[in-house]
Amino acid sequence: MKSSLIHQRFQHHFGSEAQLIVHAPGRVNLIGEHTDYNDGFVLPVAIDKYVSIAARSRGDRRVVLHALDFNQTCEFSLDDIRPSQGNDAWSNYPKGVAHFLQRANQPIPGLEAVISGDVPIASGLSSSAAIEVASALAFLNVGPDTPFEMDGSELAALCQRAENQFVGVNCGIMDQAISLLGKANHALFLDCRTLDYERVPLCLADFSIVVCNTKVQRELTSSEYNKRRAECEKGVEHLRQWFPSISALRDVSLSDFRKYEDGLSLRTRKRCRYVIEENERVLRAVDALKAGDLQVFGVLMNASHIGLRDDYEVSCKELDAMVEIAWANKDVIGARMTGAGFGGCTVNLVRRDAVEELVDGIQTEYPQRTGIEPEIYVCNVGDGAFIESSRNS
Ligand code: GLA
Repeated sequence: MKSSLIHQRFQHHFGSEAQLIVHAPGRVNLIGEHTDYNDGFVLPVAIDKYVSIAARSRGDRRVVLHALDFNQTCEFSLDDIRPSQGNDAWSNYPKGVAHFLQRANQPIPGLEAVISGDVPIASGLSSSAAIEVASALAFLNVGPDTPFEMDGSELAALCQRAENQFVGVNCGIMDQAISLLGKANHALFLDCRTLDYERVPLCLADFSIVVCNTKVQRELTSSEYNKRRAECEKGVEHLRQWFPSISALRDVSLSDFRKYEDGLSLRTRKRCRYVIEENERVLRAVDALKAGDLQVFGVLMNASHIGLRDDYEVSCKELDAMVEIAWANKDVIGARMTGAGFGGCTVNLVRRDAVEELVDGIQTEYPQRTGIEPEIYVCNVGDGAFIESSRNS
């Protein structure tokens, strides 16, 4: 939401001026799927869709949050933070963040805030990470004390903890990291073990990134996600017989894996092979990007989708239909599902002057194949989270 508008809405709701406005983006991952919780590599970009929070500190320990998009208000004390079981589940993200900031001995004040966003919800574009990151920055910067000094990766890890342990979703670090560390026209090459990162210029030249939403959202996403994590861990445990020092699939080469994969079930073998290959693909994709070779980058995206579909088995017929429609277009050089899978979005690298044709193709063919109307976003790669002081504070 535009700053002036959210500022106005704050004033209307709370009858005073907000002190600051925070914006945190959603993301789309270009390549490196299901690698983050295997200590591997990812290459996401921040999209120019944001969760925005206008906030003002209070003199007491109370937090009053108003979600404009749901027209709901949630109020709690910083001394007694409990997860909500009701229909205001969105409030668990800021609550979890406040809880973990305090556990990390960060002094945070009570505050009042309005929250709004244009990151599509439950679409695999990380609106949850965006609200976590926006809340963290609001809590840390709204007080009278000097702004916080926490390092970006550390704060991403704290937001991830809030999601794992307070909200109860066992995600990796990718989404929170890109929401904090993203940069316009750059992809974030992140090592999910060390949290070292590099912002790689995204020289798209004549190409655009188009994100297509299947509008499918499946309940099984989180149980299947946890199953995949367990299967990867099983693979690591097996390989430790020969490589006692390894702690994640990140530590294993494909050739070593091939030597010792016997003894694992076919399913676990497929899961592990996918992860090892995907890590390799990310490294090659970064090289391709640096060399300006988008064609190779696109080929790697396509291979990533095939691995996710056949070996990791987290695609679904709607995602496959959307990707196949894109693959049939000669001006699409790469298309794959993005995010956890079982629905959500695809990401496409398409020649700029053919974007309209791709959009038309998906809008026509996808409903014919699935009976569902898609949503399509032609995205710009935006900045990671940022803070604006309010005009009159
Ligand atoms: C979800 C999780 C991420 C990552 C992706 C799959 O978006 O939140 O941490 O594991 O799935 O790459």
